[in-house]
Amino acid sequence: AKFTYVDKETCIACGACGATAPDIYDYDDEGLAEVIYEEDNNKGVKEIPEDLHDDMQDAADGCPTDSIQIADDPFNN
Ligand code: F3S
Repeated sequence: AKFTYVDKETCIACGACGATAPDIYDYDDEGLAEVIYEEDNNKGVKEIPEDLHDDMQDAADGCPTDSIQIADDPFNN
């Protein structure tokens, strides 16, 4: 299983992740990214299905500040 959230402390609102994985990442009012998949609310508790794993990894690899966190277990934000 895979889970993800965005560390908004380091996100610089570059806008890449939402373009790469729009089903997972969107932006708040300040342009900072957050996980919107199944209304996760950036908590990192909604399991990301396998068909989105490539997009998720591409987004993480493309983030200039390494703000996209991915793990095998749910986060607890
Ligand atoms: Fe922020 Fe990285 Fe996305 S800087 S907008 S989390 S690509």
